[in-house]
This record gives sequence, C-alpha cells and structure tokens, in this order.
Amino acid sequence: MVYIVAGATGVVGSAISKELASENEVIIIGRDEEKLSALSKEIDVEYSTIDLDNTIEQREFSKIVPDDKEIKGLVNCIGSILIKPLHGTKIEEFEDVIKVNLFSSYYLLSSFARRMKNGSAIFFSSVAGTKGLSNHEAIAAAKAGLEGMARSAAASYAKDNLRVNVIAPGLLDSNMSQRLLATEQAREMSKSIYPIPKIGDFNDILPVVKWLLSDDSKWVTGQTIHVDGGLSTVKPR
Ligand SMILES: NC(=O)c1ccc[n+]([C@@H]2O[C@H](COP(=O)([O-])OP(=O)(O)OC[C@H]3O[C@@H](n4cnc5c(N)ncnc54)[C@H](OP(=O)(O)O)[C@@H]3O)[C@@H](O)[C@H]2O)c1
Repeated sequence: MVYIVAGATGVVGSAISKELASENEVIIIGRDEEKLSALSKEIDVEYSTIDLDNTIEQREFSKIVPDDKEIKGLVNCIGSILIKPLHGTKIEEFEDVIKVNLFSSYYLLSSFARRMKNGSAIFFSSVAGTKGLSNHEAIAAAKAGLEGMARSAAASYAKDNLRVNVIAPGLLDSNMSQRLLATEQAREMSKSIYPIPKIGDFNDILPVVKWLLSDDSKWVTGQTIHVDGGLSTVKPR
C-alpha cells in the first residue's frame, strides 16, 4: 500500500510527506530533483520528478508506482499564487496558473485513478475558489475549476470507492506567501480580514488531510472543506 504526495517539497507537501512516511510507504513527486532527493533521503522514501511543461503520457507516468502496489492515497500540494488585476495579467501568466493549479491535478488523478480502488484523493483549492476576492481572477478560475473537477471525479469513481475531496485554505505561512507576509504590517493587515484573525499554517491543514486519508472519513466524498478562519462564509459584525 502506497501514498503519493505531489508538491512534496513545498511547506504543506513536506509536512504531509513527513507525517505519512513515519508509518507508510510513500512516493514523493516534485519538480526540483535536488530538493526532492534531499527530502527523500531525510524521510527514507522514493521520489519521482514531474515537468508540467513536458508531461509524458499518463500510462507511462503511472509506472512510478509498481503495478502490484495498491495506491491508498494521492495528495496534490502543487500550487501557485498570482494576485494581479485581470487587465494586467499576461496570457502566459494566466496559462501558467491554470497549468500549476488545475492541470497538475487532472494529470495526477487521470494517471492514478484507475489504480485507487478504496483510496482517497485530496486536492488543494483556496478561499478564492469560493469567494470573489479582487485581483484573484486567474487563481479563482483555476481553483474553482479544480473544485468542479473533483466533484465530478468523486461521482465517476464512487463505484470503485475512490473518494475525491478538496481542502480550501485561507492564507498560509508557506513559500508562495512569503512576499505577501514579508512585514509585520502586512501580516497584521492579512490577519484582520479573517473572522478568526490568524495566518494559517500547515498545522491547520495536516489533521484534515489525515482525516480525509483515513477510514474515519469513509462516507465523505465530493466535498470542499474550507480551512480559512471563516473567510469564505462568515461575516462577523
Ligand atoms: N500558502 C497559501 O497561502 C495557500 C493558500 C490557499 C491555497 N494554497 C494551496 O495549498 C497548496 C500547498 O501550497 P503551500 O502553501 O505548501 O505552498 P508552497 O510551499 O509554495 O508549495 C507549493 C508547491 O508547488 C510546487 N510547484 C509550484 N509550481 C510548480 C510547477 N510548475 N511544477 C511543479 N511543482 C510546482 C512547489 O515546488 P518547489 O518546492 O519546487 O517550489 C511546491 O512544492 C497549493 O495547492 C496552494 O495553491 C496555499
């Protein structure tokens, strides 16, 4: 039985990989071979690279997991952030956001879904996938698309008992948010828009991932779980 974690060299991905690797066989996936190889040595797991600009055919890619292995979980932590007005967003930037945040999940799920009977697949959206936040058009399009794809896949693969769910975080302390949170003033500003005023971190996400991968969530599929201090749905006075 094996778990696949993509985007494993990011902050959320490496926390998930470390947690899973303590008790399970894990394959980590990423774009940066040097970082991947260092992490794979540290936690004693196999790794494989992914190049979203030059993807190979899915059947070929799926060979990173030997045929006789049952795939119990797939977690895609690959993602990016782009905060720009739509009229200032170049075509290449828009395409890149779609590729990293939506296409990566299509590619991974289409590669492994048929081998995930009784498994759990988890993708990451964002609060911007639900709530209209200004200057988030590209990321909103990618993440809302991802939520739709995951709901449809949950229906398609329910007969195999493959559960497909999405976690939609608010702003987290991680590599991609470093610039947004670079000063104390910026952190305070960001915190203040959340009903529960806090910047999130991987510790807010990890328990939800563990639950969605476990049999405790065996009747949960096709859901987007918001971990965002209430921002997507709550307006305090
Ligand atoms: N951080 C936030 O504020 C926030 C908010 C809402 C949703 N999310 C979502 O949460 C998930 C986890 O993100 P994180 O917070 O852990 O951010 P992170 O630390 O920046 O990790 C992002 C991951 O995506 C990978 N990646 C980026 N572009 C890629 C590409 N072209 N090809 C392959 N891999 C690529 C990065 O690889 P490298 O390690 O090689 O750079 C890294 O592993 C993402 O889906 C993100 O969109 C994050």
